[in-house]
Amino acid sequence: TMADHLRKYESLFTLTPQRMRMIVEAFKDTLELGLSKHKQTVPMIPTYVFGWPTGQEKGDYLSVDLGGTNLRVCLVTLEGEGKFEVTQTKYRLTEEQKQEEGQKLFDFCAECLKTFVDTNLQDENSGLKLQPGEKLPLGFTFSYPCTQERIDHGELIRWTKGFGAPNTEGHDVAAMFRASLEKFELPIELTALINDTTGTLIASNYVNPKNKIAVIFGTGCNAAYMEYVKDIPKIHDVGIGLDGQMAINCEWGAFDSFEHEHLPRTKYDQIVDETSNKPGEQAFEKLISGRYLGEILRLVLCELIDEGVLFLGQNTYKLEVPYAFDTAFLSLLESDPTDELLMAIGIFTHFFALETTLAERQFFRALAKLIGRRAARLSACGIAAIVSKMGYLEEGCSVGADGSLYNKYPGFADRVHEGLQDVFGDKGRNIVTHHAEDGSGVGSAIIAAMTKARKDAGI
Ligand code: BG6
Ligand code: GLC
Repeated sequence: TMADHLRKYESLFTLTPQRMRMIVEAFKDTLELGLSKHKQTVPMIPTYVFGWPTGQEKGDYLSVDLGGTNLRVCLVTLEGEGKFEVTQTKYRLTEEQKQEEGQKLFDFCAECLKTFVDTNLQDENSGLKLQPGEKLPLGFTFSYPCTQERIDHGELIRWTKGFGAPNTEGHDVAAMFRASLEKFELPIELTALINDTTGTLIASNYVNPKNKIAVIFGTGCNAAYMEYVKDIPKIHDVGIGLDGQMAINCEWGAFDSFEHEHLPRTKYDQIVDETSNKPGEQAFEKLISGRYLGEILRLVLCELIDEGVLFLGQNTYKLEVPYAFDTAFLSLLESDPTDELLMAIGIFTHFFALETTLAERQFFRALAKLIGRRAARLSACGIAAIVSKMGYLEEGCSVGADGSLYNKYPGFADRVHEGLQDVFGDKGRNIVTHHAEDGSGVGSAIIAAMTKARKDAGI
């Protein structure tokens, strides 16, 4: 029966507290290693964002955000006292655009920026009047691993999240974007290149100084936090002394890549990995992020089709297409309020032309729960590693979180919190995640303002 099958998957996808604690220990070692040596699997990237914002940062800033599901262009007005206003436009990227020549991708970003500037800033009544020769500062949120030597530069280590645009890895993406800005003759100066996690860290701290860690749970999964310069042995003189602090973009999605020694990977996870455009890489992310959860569930269903357990006598070709099962379907299965699971009927008939029994639908829902819960508990392990490394458990801290999975998957945050308690016991309650407002827009504006303040002060 379906219940027997479910038992098998329960044992494959369940993480015990004991296993979680082992993962946390290995994770901590990995974080330390990335801080002490260059070119590690988890690169622990120094971001050249020095310390926390004061909350008093002010001014108008543009930002371009490339890295999640959308390309976004924003105009952010910082008003100080943790307040801000955002005007934005979103553009959907096609799968083809993710694979075409890198420079073309940046040209597209610049083109969207131009359209945005033409519609939003040329208006007579707009407060933004540029003096001849004056340029607007732009923060570029580029959410892929980039090695930085300063805030307005970054060399792409590798594409993640299915991107593959050639002639970009190993290049300075800030320079590439500047070249595109010049083509469109925009009165704009790229002043900061940031990761979405770094932006989220700074934006969430601007709003609430208790936020010490930021995590993105979206198409990808990654975290940033503030580190003491003295505890980053791989860098030496960054000009702010050893007492200074700098934000670190962990790129923790790469945890356990290649070696696969620490994470409990099932055979479905292995297939996801082997059939991806980057086998071996982003091992942690592939168990957690929105890009992959639907695919994991689909692979389980395909196995049961092959075994003759599901959909006997029906044509399953639509379900056999890789990535046909969206992670949003897991959210819908889990949140279905009806006894008959009508939402599941809708998904399976409408998208896959398949009929289901109630027992099967209950099984699908239980499966979604196993996969979603595992993702949240693994994420808790990553958060716990940073909390424990930084000694934040006793005083407690809050974690700014953003991304489609965090914002839309029912119960995701609760499961992360439950996971933190499984790792830390009751004290785990001291660590709480909150939705963070617009890291890539507001965060990049604050960082641009912080950078300007340092420049003006001659630092
Ligand atoms: C948004 C954040 O909400 O989520 C971005 O503002 C982030 O900074 C994005 O990049 C990630 O989510 P997704 O689901 O688009 O990958
Ligand atoms: C991927 C990227 C990382 C980003 C994360 C969330 O892991 O490598 O830079 O922060 O996705 O968008």
